[in-house]
Amino acid sequence: MSIDLQRVRADTIGVNHRIHLNSAGAALMPTPVLDAMTDYLRREAEIGGYEAADEQAERLKGVYGSVARLLNAASDEIALMENATVAWQMAFYALQFQPGDRILTAQAEYAANYVAFLQVAKRTGAVVEVIPNDRSGALDVEALERMIDDRVRLIAITWVPTNGGLVNPAAAVGRIARKHGIPYLLDACQAVGQMPVDVAELGCDMLSATGRKFLRGPRGTGFLYVRRELMLRLEPPIIDHFAAPWVAPDRYELRPDARRFENWENNYAARLGLGVAIDYALSIGMEPIKARCWMLADNMRSELARIPGVVIHDIGIERAAIVTFTIAGVEAADVQARMKVQGINVTTSQPSSTLLDSTARSLPMIVRASPHYYNSEDEIHRFTRAVATLAAEAR
Ligand SMILES: Cc1ncc(COP(=O)(O)O)c(C=O)c1O
Repeated sequence: MSIDLQRVRADTIGVNHRIHLNSAGAALMPTPVLDAMTDYLRREAEIGGYEAADEQAERLKGVYGSVARLLNAASDEIALMENATVAWQMAFYALQFQPGDRILTAQAEYAANYVAFLQVAKRTGAVVEVIPNDRSGALDVEALERMIDDRVRLIAITWVPTNGGLVNPAAAVGRIARKHGIPYLLDACQAVGQMPVDVAELGCDMLSATGRKFLRGPRGTGFLYVRRELMLRLEPPIIDHFAAPWVAPDRYELRPDARRFENWENNYAARLGLGVAIDYALSIGMEPIKARCWMLADNMRSELARIPGVVIHDIGIERAAIVTFTIAGVEAADVQARMKVQGINVTTSQPSSTLLDSTARSLPMIVRASPHYYNSEDEIHRFTRAVATLAAEAR
């Protein structure tokens, strides 16, 4: 099944006046998402915020079902959060570490996650160790297997990093984690929305993601999946009376579902928007979405690779819809600015957001272009022509 490009573009007002190649930043929301949110906000203004939530209680509850369907999980294993970072933190900081415990992560780990590892290492005496890459630049699964011993308390990796198209072998890591009974936390922030995500197949215990990137949801949304058996054993690092009702003067009881990681007050319009974005993606199909996103990114890479002075920085065998490159003689920020005046949205990736990887590969600030299925082949071509012009000027 292929994607009806005309239809999805008709649903995407942003394509009318820009070439948006920043889906790994925040993708363009489709009209049904925008409508669901504005209608809900209007309802809050018309009848009151609490009253609107009561009126739309079933739809709001349905968002958990949408996330669960997206991940092949159960609704009670899902917590809705304000972003992926908080989702990840809630899971990570709920885990207990002792001196000498080992946390294994990957070279392309995201800065927010890595500083949390460092903080916990400082507080507890746990150690952070980096799984080496294989020759393609992806996490080396065999090296991971060799690193396992009874001191490994956590494997926490990023599936698709913030700084490129690399797709780490998340399911192979899951098989090792399962085999050894080690908790596995997967940062799927850049993966959800551009490819199928099945927690059973991935073998992960915890997974965090955001709504605004490839899922095309609103900003300020994210979610956490925690496998039920583990979730029931985890005490969230911080709680309120929603996560843990106050049942006696000296006692609280944690909720029996993953909403123990949430708190009471929420942006319900954004939650509804997230649910609609997920339903929209599922109605198109995650396989066709992946096929088109990755195909457009591949086309972009091959066109860019032919331009003298352009160096592509994506690594790994499998490459997702994130294309990173530099142009000799032009700073990444200037590339972004020059594209902007031509109505093309791209962004940059700072070395500090993936410090280990950037250091290992001596990466400067790089340009990041992330197409989505709603981009046309012509848009990709116009973008690469604009890059070619810039590169020629710099020669
Ligand atoms: C790999 C990765 N993980 C986590 C995040 C954080 O997501 P959020 O901004 O929704 O907290 C990002 C954001 O760029 C990311 O690239």
